[in-house]
Amino acid sequence: MFSIPVVDPGAQRRIEKLIRRIHPTCPVHIFRKPIIERKTRTFIDHFPGTVMFAVKSNPDDDVLLAMLRAGLTTFDAASIEEIRLIKRFSPSARIHFMHTVKSREAIREAYFDHQVRVFVIDTLDELHKILHETNLANDLEIFVRMALPKNKEAAVDFSAKFGATAKGSAFLLHEARLVCSKLGLMFHPGTQSTNPDIFYSGIKMASDIIIRSGVTVDALDVGGGFPVPYPGQDIPPLSRYIDRIKSAVEDFGLSHLDLYCEPGRALCAEAGLLVVRIEQRKDKTLYLNDGIYGGLIEAAKWAGEFRFPVSLVSRHPDLVPDNAPFIPFRFCGPTCDSLDRMKGPFPLPAHAAEGDWIIISMNGAYSQCCRTNFNGFGLHKVMMVDF
Ligand SMILES: Cc1ncc(COP(=O)(O)O)c(C=O)c1O
Repeated sequence: MFSIPVVDPGAQRRIEKLIRRIHPTCPVHIFRKPIIERKTRTFIDHFPGTVMFAVKSNPDDDVLLAMLRAGLTTFDAASIEEIRLIKRFSPSARIHFMHTVKSREAIREAYFDHQVRVFVIDTLDELHKILHETNLANDLEIFVRMALPKNKEAAVDFSAKFGATAKGSAFLLHEARLVCSKLGLMFHPGTQSTNPDIFYSGIKMASDIIIRSGVTVDALDVGGGFPVPYPGQDIPPLSRYIDRIKSAVEDFGLSHLDLYCEPGRALCAEAGLLVVRIEQRKDKTLYLNDGIYGGLIEAAKWAGEFRFPVSLVSRHPDLVPDNAPFIPFRFCGPTCDSLDRMKGPFPLPAHAAEGDWIIISMNGAYSQCCRTNFNGFGLHKVMMVDF
């Protein structure tokens, strides 16, 4: 067993010091502002189009503010609550309302109260709904969401639930062109897409659909799905994804389109750490004060496929032996549900004991926003640090 570096050694020391100072008794989400800013700027500097943040992955106030400060101007929102949140921080932010199934009330409020003009559809019914609720507005920007063939190299296939067939997408482009001021096509290859070629084939498919539709299209949105390097996963660098996107856009004659992407995980996962406490140890199983109904929902969902890096902060650092061996642990969450377990293996020093804390890193996406209060274990804290 080996120790997985959680964060850079300097930051690790500062986080350990922070934990020893605050002695957290409930789970704490720590977000690292410089990492959020760096990830955001890297995407903005290298993606050949407009970068939107998928707010659903981390709607924390300070995270959104850090992104705005780093130069992000455009957001992908999935609900009216996310739209209200963004507008509170940045009245001038541009928002794309990218859920294919919107309530009539949400469409009305988005259009009339928050000046949202960009909506996505994958059915004709949704287009009619948008037209009706905006009083046949003539300044709508409509994206058609197309489904991709099943992506086995993603953690979740995002075309299983949303997106029109190729034929249906071409038809929707044709119909939407008649009523919108700007027309786009979009796809999402699936979250944590580990093969950049999926973007190339997605763009090829988009090109075929545009030709089939017979109408002029103005924009292409290649979704999110850009992965992060969880332990044990061999992830190509972002530059390979960008290269494949650029090549596809050129190869299929789409360079004239306005290009968008909407990453979530890739902008915030590596900036987040979750600090949990060991409440009991039974052999190689650690019972924690957080689990799959809390900040570890993803650790459970994809336990077989990817794990989070972990490290131990001992409650009694003076008693810790030098060069302590590492052994594989399993985790159990605090609720009474037997599903609330994570098989790991999570390598930690063999002396891990009740009262020690575990830092779980790369946990900044789909984490604190997915928490529940199940069994009364919802209490947690959120902190932003500037290192
Ligand atoms: C429409 C849409 N865009 C973007 C994202 C962000 O995806 P990811 O976090 O994989 O980048 C999601 C995730 O659910 C989504 O549904």
